[in-house]
Amino acid sequence: MLPALRIASRQVTARRAPAVAAQAVRAGSTWANVPQGPPDVSVTEAFKADSFEKKINLGVGAYRDDQGKPYVLPSVRAAEDKVIAKRLNKEYLGITGLPEFTTAAAKLAYGNDSPALERVVITQSISGTGALRIGGAFLNRFFPGAKTIYIPSPSWANHKAVFSDSGFKVKEYRYYNKNTIGLDFEGLLADLNAAPKESIFLFHACAHNPTGVDPTPEQWKEISNVVKAQGHYPFFDMAYQGFASGDTNKDAFALRHFVEQGHGVALAQSFAKNMGLYGERVGAFSILASSLEEKKRIDSQIKILIRPFYSNPPLHGARIAAEILNSPDLYQQWLGEVKGMADRIINMRALLRSNLEKLGSTHDWSHITSQIGMFAYTGLDPDSMDKLAKEHSVYATKNGRISVAGITSGNVGRLAEAIYKVKG
Ligand SMILES: Cc1ncc(COP(=O)(O)O)c(C=O)c1O
Repeated sequence: MLPALRIASRQVTARRAPAVAAQAVRAGSTWANVPQGPPDVSVTEAFKADSFEKKINLGVGAYRDDQGKPYVLPSVRAAEDKVIAKRLNKEYLGITGLPEFTTAAAKLAYGNDSPALERVVITQSISGTGALRIGGAFLNRFFPGAKTIYIPSPSWANHKAVFSDSGFKVKEYRYYNKNTIGLDFEGLLADLNAAPKESIFLFHACAHNPTGVDPTPEQWKEISNVVKAQGHYPFFDMAYQGFASGDTNKDAFALRHFVEQGHGVALAQSFAKNMGLYGERVGAFSILASSLEEKKRIDSQIKILIRPFYSNPPLHGARIAAEILNSPDLYQQWLGEVKGMADRIINMRALLRSNLEKLGSTHDWSHITSQIGMFAYTGLDPDSMDKLAKEHSVYATKNGRISVAGITSGNVGRLAEAIYKVKG
């Protein structure tokens, strides 16, 4: 065969091959049993589909500035410039990540002078979600008791999925009282007492998502006492340190109190919100060991566990966070910017409440200002939330949760009017 013809016949065979393969797939697909998941009815999709110019999106779980725009912290920009100017290489990190980052992350969480720091086993993680997932995997492999974890009712929607995918039975403890739009403290304590001894309890360290309702320091102290008396194991999810009150120390109160009280703890940290590093996926998972010898053993097993997950974590975001946490000037600047974000949110809460009251609403809106963090649980039912979307182009989740980060001084008036029309 002439060379030209040989090539032509190879091309024909190559062109035919996919058709044959497609037929084989159609005849009896390997994936015929994959069920259709529920449709992604995300708030953002509904918001995008609305052409009204003054529509409001209160579904986003990310901070927005007063113009409603995504916000890159100036300290993050400056740190990133410094990192880039160093022209570092792009070699792999070790399994547990960038030590300059993890050491600083542990100090931020447990406290700069905490005597516990030397017993903290810490690894970088794929943001807060990855930290929870590593924690789930570690506890599933080594926790000596039942493979059951208690999460608050309600909780961040992903908790259940993370822990059931980690092999846990997920149960709920009482947390939110819809009548008071506040904490069901008695229910919480009762459920801590009723659970089998030595159970794992997940706590939101601050800025509970979705309710924005946190225990007071006094209530945390009581929770710690009961957890201790029952021998339970506390797992803290701290996705909002600094973002809740504007003060990173205040927001770490619950974690630090438990540590002071001698609890062993597990901790998931995220730098998505407090540094605005959402897409960079910067987080950390840590366990407080009871001795230096135990720390070494746990550390070795965390490495064994992470290696087949993803080998080692991403570099760039961790370098940015490390630059901020380790340079005194940038660190001070960052603390100011975190406070700026928290203050804007606190201001928007106050404005929303005062606008509703000015409109003559007789409803008690005090929970809007007493709740904390990115989200407010309005107490509005699914029908009211539907009306807000359909009649007023205000979009948020059906459970009545609104992202206060989506409120601006430009839209708060219209938002209050919409809520007033729906709720009175
Ligand atoms: C309570 C809680 N935990 C963890 C996360 C994890 O977020 P990320 O994986 O982006 O750090 C979030 C994010 O919304 C959250 O609200």
